[in-house]
Amino acid sequence: MSAGSGQAIESVLKEGRSFPPPADFAAQANVTPTHYDEMWRRAKDDPEGFWGEQAENLHWFKKWDTVLQGGFADARWFAGGKLNASYNCLDRHLDSWRKNKAAIVWEGEPGDTRVLRYQDLHREVCKFANVLKSLGVKTGDRVTLYMPMIPELAIAMLACARIGAPHSIIFGGFSADAIADRNNDAQSKLVVTADAGWRRGKQIELKGKVDESLQRSTSVQKVVVVRRTGADVDMKPDRDYWWHELMEGASTDCDAESLDAEHPLYILYTSGSTGKPKGVLHTTGGYLLGTTMTTRWVFDLKDNDTYWCTADIGWVTGHSYIVYGPLSNGATTLMYEGAPNWPDEGRFWQIVEKYGVNIFYTAPTAIRAFIKWGDAWPGKYDLTSLRLLGTVGEPINPEAWMWYHRTIGQERCPIVDTWWQTETGAIMISPLPGVTATKPGSCTKPLPGVVPDIVTESGESLPDNQGGLLVMRQPWPSMLRTLWGDHERFVETYLSKIEGCYFAGDGARRDEDGYYWVMGRVDDVLNVAGHRLSTMELESALVSHPGVAEAAVVGYPHDLKGEGICCFVTLKTGEGGEELKKELIDHVRTQIGAIATPDQIRFAASVPKTRSGKIMRRLLRDIAAGKETIGDTTTLEDYGVLAKLREESEG
Ligand code: PRX
Repeated sequence: MSAGSGQAIESVLKEGRSFPPPADFAAQANVTPTHYDEMWRRAKDDPEGFWGEQAENLHWFKKWDTVLQGGFADARWFAGGKLNASYNCLDRHLDSWRKNKAAIVWEGEPGDTRVLRYQDLHREVCKFANVLKSLGVKTGDRVTLYMPMIPELAIAMLACARIGAPHSIIFGGFSADAIADRNNDAQSKLVVTADAGWRRGKQIELKGKVDESLQRSTSVQKVVVVRRTGADVDMKPDRDYWWHELMEGASTDCDAESLDAEHPLYILYTSGSTGKPKGVLHTTGGYLLGTTMTTRWVFDLKDNDTYWCTADIGWVTGHSYIVYGPLSNGATTLMYEGAPNWPDEGRFWQIVEKYGVNIFYTAPTAIRAFIKWGDAWPGKYDLTSLRLLGTVGEPINPEAWMWYHRTIGQERCPIVDTWWQTETGAIMISPLPGVTATKPGSCTKPLPGVVPDIVTESGESLPDNQGGLLVMRQPWPSMLRTLWGDHERFVETYLSKIEGCYFAGDGARRDEDGYYWVMGRVDDVLNVAGHRLSTMELESALVSHPGVAEAAVVGYPHDLKGEGICCFVTLKTGEGGEELKKELIDHVRTQIGAIATPDQIRFAASVPKTRSGKIMRRLLRDIAAGKETIGDTTTLEDYGVLAKLREESEG
């Protein structure tokens, strides 16, 4: 999709179905229609007053002086206020009956399980915070977490938050090079990892990748290793330490640091259309407020719920809706280590039955896989505990929505289609399950305090039902504050495109009922299985192969992944064949990680470009998508012809 010409984006999706909240759900919901109207009005008339009132839901060591200072580029929320995210997620629950409530219910892929009560989690976090201190980590130092989905990951996050050392979590599928780049950018002092993790019955190496990455990142002084699978690892003396050995002697006594509301909580790297990955920075007070309140509003969390978000903590969804949001609310959050199809395609539904999951939050890409695997899998299990379903990561196609509604929700559970981003920190546009009538494929309406708009390239608001650029007109507490080490790029990427607004990078339209329909990214960022990948990074990875002269990467519609990765590759010499294709695929996997595995490699004599030298992605996208429907009949020479034709018609 391109918004390049300044014209409105054409929206082709028309969807007429609407599903009001079931009466019994609405009757017990955290947010009722009256409550919602009040919040909405309050937020509109006095945003700062509204957010100040909401912030009373957190525990502050010292109350703030002002709710908001500055604008998008220099926002300071709750300036003068002091708090600690780990204290809010743990300590404040210990004075109540929640002390003995399950905080994390964990299931490993092989079927092993662990339950950590709030009291247990608090003790582990205090111990690990002391371990970090003993290894020289101080408030403000960055700590990288490259770990499988095991409780130690949540423990490490909260330990970092406890001492004010921002964590930088790198998804366990990323390669050694990707780790090194991120460590260098963040100047991480310490890495926490594991020997390996389980995925589809296989061990995914982690420590070995960290070792490799450390050859290129000199800031890292120490490595802590969790023994998860028992895989063989090299332990370098005076650098590498076993988690269990360090924890054995650690004290359970560790006060939570009293931190400024704007103290950095974490960096999370995400893809941009150009340049290296962007280190999105979230700070303490605003982020925690956003995740705490949206968890309560959108997921309708109650104390007796078992809540399961299936994301990996390596992505923002896991940060906000496995760890910080649920724990700050004193909820029981379920964490699963492995794949949805291991040992078979019924695993998720078996977990739902086993733990009596009430709230289930997943991604459209997973839903499409479930559909493909067939109704028999969910049919084998008792899903009657479910009361609310959610989705996030990309637009959900209405038929997938309907399948989710019928087959998993059994026409009983509301679906919350939540639109947000790594940068927004928390859900921005979403139904409230007791209030909003849902329409399949729409993330419906903004939450209270969120002020989106649909605009043209020159920033004019568009009327209903015209596609345009999705922007935010007002700052919100959980927004990113900067890109780590590159404030200019932050301003340039998000704040310069549409004057006075935050530009999300998505195209969308608003319908006559005020419902938002997100159409996808307008830049060259791919959305593969709900995760953003930069075409530029993929291209650099390809070009770093000695045989490759030039590469252009585009997305194309893919049944399961949303977008597939198609790489057009020009070789320095020779033709290229199946073997080289395999080699290039492996090369990209080594450079970036399995998440970026190309679906198609096409050798081209040259990559079509405009006269100014810009790769003609729109054309390549058509070609990549065409292969799906018409078969691979187009020859590479035709691309050149097509490109020429396009140049001529533009010129
Ligand atoms: O394009 C939108 C899409 O995912 C992008 C954000 O990606 P990321 O930062 O990786 O975070 C994903 C999880 C929050 C958005 O710019 N997106 C996310 N949720 C939705 C969505 N598109 C449509 N509908 C959604 N519910």
